[in-house]
Amino acid sequence: MSAKLIKGTEIREQILTEIADEVATIKRGHGAVPGLVTILVGENPASISYVTLKIKTAHRLGFNEIQDTQPIDIPEEELLALIDKYNNDDTINGILVQLPLPDHIDEKKVLNALDPDKDVDGFHPINVGRLMIGGDEVKFPPCTPAGIQEMIVRSGIETKGAEVVVVGRSNIVGKPIANMMFQKGPGANATVTVVHTGTKNLDAHCKRADILIVAAGVPDLVKPEWIKPGSCVIDVGVNRVGEKPSKKDPNKMVAVLKGDVDFDAAKEIAGYITPVPGGVGPMTITMLMKNTLKSLKFKLGIQ
Ligand code: GUN
Repeated sequence: MSAKLIKGTEIREQILTEIADEVATIKRGHGAVPGLVTILVGENPASISYVTLKIKTAHRLGFNEIQDTQPIDIPEEELLALIDKYNNDDTINGILVQLPLPDHIDEKKVLNALDPDKDVDGFHPINVGRLMIGGDEVKFPPCTPAGIQEMIVRSGIETKGAEVVVVGRSNIVGKPIANMMFQKGPGANATVTVVHTGTKNLDAHCKRADILIVAAGVPDLVKPEWIKPGSCVIDVGVNRVGEKPSKKDPNKMVAVLKGDVDFDAAKEIAGYITPVPGGVGPMTITMLMKNTLKSLKFKLGIQ
């Protein structure tokens, strides 16, 4: 059997078209567009490329977008004051502080300083709490887990009563996606198991999964014999395992990426599988745009 590919690149285009249509309607009816600021501290190349893509996507959708780049040695108080400025700026609906931050800055303090109603990453403790309560309480589901849920739903995969196994317990992916999948409601209502580095018999748990979500950060961790035939495999891993010449410009080197699942073997056993790259990756920025639009809609009282 060869699995059906769940392509994030295609689902992204569907969702971005929906967002652009909604932005145009709101602009006509209310004279407002979503405003997103991305704050980047320093010049980490991976962070620069993520932020650039976020800003480009926001621009394409007709958002008011600001990229605020700060020097690597910005004092913590200055960064907190900058966040406060955007918290009080009526034209801004979403504030994103690109992580990781340099060592002299306390990440927890920075996330806590965000106005929870502009925290479109969903990282503020209030939004984490809202997610845990579920239902109408949820304002901004964190972007990667929200993207995973969208991929599952838009691929027509039944989640109600499904055995979901999540590999990894990070604050950004493992914990929130586990929480989202067991909530009552559409695209969820599953029976969820979370496995991690302390788990015995990892393979036995994975073998039970109707939906296996892997966010461990270990290339090829999941072997084909761990996969239930016909199941849905969502690979969140983006591991840089080497470099190769770019197809566009052979004089330039680009990263070779590998997921957490042995894709070539797994696709012969799974019913659905996400590729790396081109699977979960494109969904994160897409859901950031959706959360920023949502933030404006909350403000206008139309959500
Ligand atoms: N760094 C890597 N991924 C993310 C993300 O989703 N949000 C933020 N703020 N920083 C990141």
